[in-house]
Amino acid sequence: MKRPIASIVGTGRGLPEAVMTNFDFAKIGIETTDEWITERTGIKQRHIARNGESTTSMAAAAARQAMQRAGVSAGEIDAIVLSTATPDRLLPATAVDLQAQLGATRAAAFDIGAACAGFIFAVTIAEGMIATGTAETVLVVGSEKMSSIIDWQDRATCVLFGDGAGAAVLRRAKHQRGILSAYMRSDGTLANLLYRPSGGACQPFCEDVLTDRSHFVKMAGREVFKHAVRSMADACDRALDGAKLTGKDIDLLIPHQANLRIIEATAKHASVSMDKVYVNVDRYGNTSSASVAIALDEALENGRIREGMNVLVVAFGAGFTWASMVLRF
Ligand code: COA
Repeated sequence: MKRPIASIVGTGRGLPEAVMTNFDFAKIGIETTDEWITERTGIKQRHIARNGESTTSMAAAAARQAMQRAGVSAGEIDAIVLSTATPDRLLPATAVDLQAQLGATRAAAFDIGAACAGFIFAVTIAEGMIATGTAETVLVVGSEKMSSIIDWQDRATCVLFGDGAGAAVLRRAKHQRGILSAYMRSDGTLANLLYRPSGGACQPFCEDVLTDRSHFVKMAGREVFKHAVRSMADACDRALDGAKLTGKDIDLLIPHQANLRIIEATAKHASVSMDKVYVNVDRYGNTSSASVAIALDEALENGRIREGMNVLVVAFGAGFTWASMVLRF
């Protein structure tokens, strides 16, 4: 086994200031209750971007913190891989706006779209660039302003999501620490279970689109739930097999933070007890591709991850896409 090739040397996060609790939905006329949301999802509150906060500004806050912790200056970054489902503009990529804000003048910067699994996809791409010698230092970011694409009249989806960003700096691995295994999969035949029908090139914006609200996220909740449980379980198995480890060897499981029940099912399948599972969905809701990155950053900051620990990360999202990774810190 050639791995580990690359490792995470610094992380950061950027959250909007404003917090919206489950009780705040009543103020905007949404018929829901704290009890319904908590029971079904585990979410109590989410951060919402306001007053000019954007996908780029949250990404920049996360990136600056990650670079500072990694001891890396903007001029040392060879590539920026930014995962988002909510680019600030459709052209050019949000990654180049981030590059400009950071002053990372030497970097190649581009976006990737793999929805909630995007951060793990992006880290895997960064690992590949380091492996081939294309880059030495890569900044990976997951940043999402989900509040801009959810339908605030649809109570079945608007209560689930939140805004935020997480970032990581990757460099060549040292001392057998770093990415031990990685796994990525997609199934485009199921795309219509979680998607935005309009607003892209196929069905561009027009009055009809705005009237029927088809530029907002549509989701078949129950179907998505079933696929998420199945795919996250499979992804855990694949990453553990790739690292030649079992759930018993895992010190911390960081699953995508979409729903507490999906998290519990994933942990059970992977044979990881809940005291070894990182959960912050109660505070942030589903921040799509930022979710794993934010959780990773918090876990490093608060000492849940310490040197020598094996960490399993796993995510699932629109596409469908799903991915996993075992990292040794
Ligand atoms: N508050 C109160 N009631 C709500 C509600 C809300 N926010 N949203 C939906 N309901 C109602 C529905 O209208 C429905 O009422 P009805 O039976 O009178 O028609 C009832 O609750 C059940 O709806 P349903 O969609 O079947 O609920 P559910 O038990 O499947 O839970 C989700 C809905 C969305 C919480 C659940 O399907 C889920 O978590 N899915 C996965 C979503 C996800 O994580 N997506 C992102 C993956 S990356």
